[in-house]
Amino acid sequence: MSMEFYVPCLFGLEGLVGDELRRLGMDAVRAENGHVRFSGEAADMARANVSLRCGERVLVELGSFPAESFDALFEGTRALPWERFIPRAGAFPVKGHSLSSALHSVPDCQRIVKKAVAARLGAKYGVEWLPENGETYQIQFSLMKDVATLWLDTSGAGLHKRGYRPAAVAAPLRETLAAAMVTLARYRGKGDFCDPFCGSGTIAIEAALSAKNRACGLRRGFAAEKWTTLPPEIWQTARREAMDREFAGDYRIYASDIDPKAVALAKQNAERAGVADLIGFSVADATKFSRETERGVIVTNPPYGERLMEKRDAETLYRQFGAALRGRENWKLYLLSSHTEFERSFGREADRKRKLYNGMIKCDLYMYDRL
Ligand SMILES: C[S@@+](CC[C@H](N)C(=O)[O-])C[C@H]1O[C@@H](n2cnc3c(N)ncnc32)[C@H](O)[C@@H]1O
Repeated sequence: MSMEFYVPCLFGLEGLVGDELRRLGMDAVRAENGHVRFSGEAADMARANVSLRCGERVLVELGSFPAESFDALFEGTRALPWERFIPRAGAFPVKGHSLSSALHSVPDCQRIVKKAVAARLGAKYGVEWLPENGETYQIQFSLMKDVATLWLDTSGAGLHKRGYRPAAVAAPLRETLAAAMVTLARYRGKGDFCDPFCGSGTIAIEAALSAKNRACGLRRGFAAEKWTTLPPEIWQTARREAMDREFAGDYRIYASDIDPKAVALAKQNAERAGVADLIGFSVADATKFSRETERGVIVTNPPYGERLMEKRDAETLYRQFGAALRGRENWKLYLLSSHTEFERSFGREADRKRKLYNGMIKCDLYMYDRL
């Protein structure tokens, strides 16, 4: 039975997520502001969860209706087929947000949605009290300009949590954003790939996963995997299909950082991701970048001067990094920074720029087609 799915994503990545879904063969893919929709069956939902690199989670849409009053919200919510997914013992917490709507109190909306779903399920299962001692079916709602939309979250932990980066690190880059940078750099496993400010190794690890065409969700579980109302074999099929699509090859991926602790952590993370053998790690100063290969691509995320260093230090670092790279005509650079003076310090204007968000920090991806 066809369903509507909704994939939230970081602003600026809608087009990439749409392309990913189309490559996975999904129908009716529509990229909108901050999310992408598609249609499909339960098996497609499992495939999207297992394989997406740049999307944040996969929600199944129950329905959408005008809701200017609590009554309308209650009736509209109760009319949706919740029993199709939530069994008698299912726990169904509710969260959501409201923007430009008469119903602006999120806790009140949460209470109404909860009551309406409980009324629906109670009537369907012929009980007055639902134990909620089973698996979790997280309900999410949005009220946007007085229109309510309701979903169930099939992913659980966000899809950026691949399972390889458990340790908390300073100023980490979200995995989905690192994957997007690798995709935008069009790295497909050919030539040298370097991240000379690797920190916990996220960009190099995502590059290795992408070069191998390894699905990012192979090593983690998903909320809907425990849902008794879905066919269990869809998950095994999604993982098997993803593994069948993997490539094998010799890749030249290099990750370095001036901080030996960061390099040690990056190595551990790469091991957990199963790609340590594909990445050459070293402790090195990026301002003395010395790779002699004739062509390659650098995808990197140096300190911005907001969280790790003072702005001036960052500017000096960018200037020295720019000087170290000059003259490498066949090298490309994709560098993410929130520092507004990056280009001036680096010494050259980027060929293209793209606005991206690293969490709440507005950044630019500076793209140089040659150095
Ligand atoms: C914003 S963090 C990178 C975070 C990384 N993308 C991640 O996902 O964890 C910047 C990194 O640059 C490193 N760094 C600072 N100055 C450096 C230099 N001169 N050469 C190499 N690395 C440097 C810091 O140690 C830090 O790990």
